[in-house]
Amino acid sequence: MQEISAAQNRPADSSKALYGGKGTRRITVRDIVAAKERGEKWPMLTAYDAMTASVFDESGIPVMLVGDSMGNCHLGYETTVPVTLDEIAMLSAAVVRGTSRALIVGDLPFGTYQEGPVQALRSATRLVKEAGVGAVKLEGGERSLAQTELLVQSGIPVMSHLGLTPQSVNTMGYRVQGRGDEAAHRLVRDAKAAQDAGAFAVVLELVPAELAAEVTRSLQIPTVGIGAGPECDAQVLVWTDMMGLTGGKVPRFVKRYAELRSAMSGAARAFAEDVVGGSFPAPEHSVH
Ligand code: KIV
Repeated sequence: MQEISAAQNRPADSSKALYGGKGTRRITVRDIVAAKERGEKWPMLTAYDAMTASVFDESGIPVMLVGDSMGNCHLGYETTVPVTLDEIAMLSAAVVRGTSRALIVGDLPFGTYQEGPVQALRSATRLVKEAGVGAVKLEGGERSLAQTELLVQSGIPVMSHLGLTPQSVNTMGYRVQGRGDEAAHRLVRDAKAAQDAGAFAVVLELVPAELAAEVTRSLQIPTVGIGAGPECDAQVLVWTDMMGLTGGKVPRFVKRYAELRSAMSGAARAFAEDVVGGSFPAPEHSVH
């Protein structure tokens, strides 16, 4: 099969492109839906602090997710389950402050929307008002239908998250989702339910590439894949995984674009050696 180059993938009017376009104002969910109409693919990264987010913003990443993955890769928890709304609100506010162009999506953590639409609205309103996010993400299609509907009717854009939903780790584990006819039909139903309820995008995590391609073709809103093959409209990765900062094993679907853990460890050791050996601070680092 012939490889499609990035240039071939760009829309005819590339000034509007989410990545590489000329726009400098903050991206909105309308821009995201328009990108699907143009057939444009786009990248999304997680971010949990202002400085890292500013680097991604300067690099043109159009959408950042303040994901509850901060539990594992920023706050030292074993799963996403203990993450609180206060933690997401504080770090979302930092990411918003560190950016001027990207659409910032704040994750609704476990226990802040499952009770029902009113709880979801209260939680999402905090992220919009206190942190300034442009959208929220929640897990589940049909099971979160009423929540999605009320949020969207109230003016809060919603990104749905289907397939492997890490907040259900205690019932679901970390396994590929959507394998077999029944599970595949359920996933397609969930994706349509999310779209019908007004979601502006759907994350598909760890689902077979063929199924993700079918869902992508059948929706008017974009799919954002993570371990879901190349046919999704967008791709998201956890930034600490793709930049080689995460310690230990990372999922197979992660491509590593840098080796920050070894670079940082090397810098820390070099500093320690200099201090112990007396070569830091040198004259140029001292004031008189
Ligand atoms: O929390 C997160 O980072 C996520 C992405 C993996 C989609 O939900």
